[in-house]
Amino acid sequence: MVNSQVKRGINMTDYTTLNAQLRALIGGVPHKIANLANASALLYQTLDRLNWAGFYLLEGETLVLGPFQGKPACIEIPLGRGVCGTAVQENKTRRVEDVHKFPGHIACDSASASELVVPLRRNGTVIGVLDLDSPFPARFTEADQAGLEEFASIIEKEVFG
Ligand code: SME
Repeated sequence: MVNSQVKRGINMTDYTTLNAQLRALIGGVPHKIANLANASALLYQTLDRLNWAGFYLLEGETLVLGPFQGKPACIEIPLGRGVCGTAVQENKTRRVEDVHKFPGHIACDSASASELVVPLRRNGTVIGVLDLDSPFPARFTEADQAGLEEFASIIEKEVFG
């Protein structure tokens, strides 16, 4: 998978550096929206071939659009709907290589081809998701998933801890 990413000219991300940058950017800052906005900007500026990066936060049974970078997106996603609502319902990361084959995928941007959604948790309970979209099929590798799960855990600690 890593080789196929390199073959297709997709720049791999140095997650050690990215996650150190995230800690430096949001550590000790007591403003939730500012931190999520800066985190989404950091992702969008750093990862190659994205068309959307941001957050949805759970309000009752609904995911509500939070800070993000990319085109305007759908505001509400019910639990169990789309890739985001499925990741919340299953309480696990969803890495989708071809969103057109994902039943119920919600196309906020018709350019999106692949997607990675990482649940955010507080005391073991899901409180939202980190969502990344790419116009390239199978853009996200296992290494991206591991690096972005670490990114999400920093958000959990610094923003919601
Ligand atoms: N595609 C997502 C919806 C959110 S947008 O990608 C920003 C989904 O199916 O849940």
